[in-house]
Amino acid sequence: MAALVLVHADKQAASVAVATTIRDLIRRRNAEGRTAVLGLATGSTPLPLYAELVRLHRAEGLSFQNVVTFNLDEYEGLTGERPESYRYFMEEHLFRHLDLRPGSTHVPDGIAADQTRACAAYEQAIRDAGGLDLQILGIGRTGHIGFNEPPSAADSRTRRVHLDAVTRRDNASFFARPEDVPHGAVTMGVATILEARQVELLAFGPAKAEIIRRALSESPHAACPATWLQLHPACTFHLDPAANAAL
Ligand code: F6R
Repeated sequence: MAALVLVHADKQAASVAVATTIRDLIRRRNAEGRTAVLGLATGSTPLPLYAELVRLHRAEGLSFQNVVTFNLDEYEGLTGERPESYRYFMEEHLFRHLDLRPGSTHVPDGIAADQTRACAAYEQAIRDAGGLDLQILGIGRTGHIGFNEPPSAADSRTRRVHLDAVTRRDNASFFARPEDVPHGAVTMGVATILEARQVELLAFGPAKAEIIRRALSESPHAACPATWLQLHPACTFHLDPAANAAL
């Protein structure tokens, strides 16, 4: 099943559309008396989405008390107190502005002594929560989703990974020095992502145009992990005109 592609006027319009989808999911789950389980991403791309969710909470009273979150990934070797960590990023840009219940947010542990055990526990926690209702994704110029760098198999699970040199360069602006970007990370696997009931990928700007073209036009293969999304039954790519330019 091919992914649905929506080209929005700009990244703000795309972010409002995805925030509205999340709001509707939370309301639906509330009406059912069930928890909404969100898979979340970090990076520059979801920032306007998170700003809109905070606005919905403040201006429209959207409550997150019945929401559980699982982030895609974390750098290896960074504690959540480090400003460059993805735990810190999420607290700063989203979690601390909402009314989430204590313990309802999950980010992979970048400093676990036994990563094999920690990764298996992360998968189990997602299953125990009832599975991901909706997964937010960005996309890396290597074709990574989460930190599933090429090659990443369709059946890959939460695990330690080695970051591509391109990804380390692209993320260097978040660190004091380029050499400070960790070489490793912990990420949900491709299979973990594909099991989400709904996937919403966002990509903005000209730097994403070529990888968006590849993700949607190449047959699914491990060398471009985002191509695996073509196998998902309910995946939407939300683009701005610049990210759509090579399609
Ligand atoms: C982040 C993540 C990555 C980013 C991707 C794009 O949690 O999993 O896949 O979504 O590297 O990053 P930005 O949005 O900074 O271009």
